Amino acid sequence: MPPVITNVDDLHRIYRRRVPKMFYDYCESGSWTEQTFRENETDFDLIRLRQRVAVDMEGRSVASTMVGREVAMPVALAPVGLTGMQHADGEILAAKAAERAGVPFTLSTMSICSIEDVANHTKKPFWFQLYVMRDEDFVDRLIERAREAGCDALVLTLDLQILGQRHKDLKNGLSAPPKLTPASIANMMTKVTWGLNMAKTKRRFFGNIVGHAKGVENASSLSSWTAEQFDPRLDWDKVRRIKEKWGGKLILKGILDAEDARMALQIGADAIVVSNHGGRQLDGALSSIRMLPEIVDEVGSQVEVHMDGGIRSGQDVLKALALGARGTYIGRAFIYGLGAMGEQGVTQTLDVIQKELDTTMALCGEKDVHDLGPHNLLVPRDFRGEWEPHGRNT
Ligand code: GLV
Repeated sequence: MPPVITNVDDLHRIYRRRVPKMFYDYCESGSWTEQTFRENETDFDLIRLRQRVAVDMEGRSVASTMVGREVAMPVALAPVGLTGMQHADGEILAAKAAERAGVPFTLSTMSICSIEDVANHTKKPFWFQLYVMRDEDFVDRLIERAREAGCDALVLTLDLQILGQRHKDLKNGLSAPPKLTPASIANMMTKVTWGLNMAKTKRRFFGNIVGHAKGVENASSLSSWTAEQFDPRLDWDKVRRIKEKWGGKLILKGILDAEDARMALQIGADAIVVSNHGGRQLDGALSSIRMLPEIVDEVGSQVEVHMDGGIRSGQDVLKALALGARGTYIGRAFIYGLGAMGEQGVTQTLDVIQKELDTTMALCGEKDVHDLGPHNLLVPRDFRGEWEPHGRNT
């Protein structure tokens, strides 16, 4: 009897059993003490919902748009590096599940399946997430490749010029393909289905990089690749250059400060993503959901504000929307589904979240996702927290 999946936690438990430790740890890590990683999730619990009754609930809709694209619900799949190591051909499978569910899929620069691979296996456009590298020609070619593949938005990540340290990745020797050590071999031998699927695919390297970046001999380690190749000089002028080069819809990801949100607005971004990279970069930063209202207040009337970080349920999605997000992203939640049962698992994740969002919305007395607002929430008086910039606010 296949297990009955009723929530994202069910998928997480199966995921943990099926995927090698090195890749499970990669997904389930935050940087350093993991405070921000934890709080991204736990801060959602501080927000409560207002129950309303005797409201006609027939004909509900959670459909919306994100940067002009119609979405079945305002939940996109976030870019996640090494997705094709969580399950063979992972990016292709997740993109297909997203396509069927009517939500956007975002392909990471650090994916295993290449841009072309994903385009060849899908019909609808997906979004491409760009990391800025020192090699400008390579960045320009990535942009070109995304355009040729029909990507309809570029998601430019701004919070990873250098990599935050995740202890487990260093201890595990994280790499793609995985390094063969006695410990990793012993662990992988217990992950039979994962191993059989992986043996059947040729996609085991960083597909956007290997064979595309000049003079790259070894792109297997995320930490050494980022240290050597990511551009630490990324600044707003470079963001402008990329915007011009791309020319299409631009989403700036990794905004966690109202002043940076204003800069993104001035640049002319079509959307910003309030994000701390899933707690994987600046440990000690406030959670995305805590920072969301301040950033919505600052720029929400002029640019679409999206958010990611800590979303594991439709209730979480509703809370983010009610606090002013126009769209949300799930990263870990879809990886759990993918690692647990491939494409079908991602479909299950999206189904679970959509049903939770719809039912929660109904029980809050709303019929349309666009009508959600602060009036649906009970939020602690000091939800933003007592934290203030200490010293000069520039
Ligand atoms: C980015 O690729 C990450 O590992 O967070």
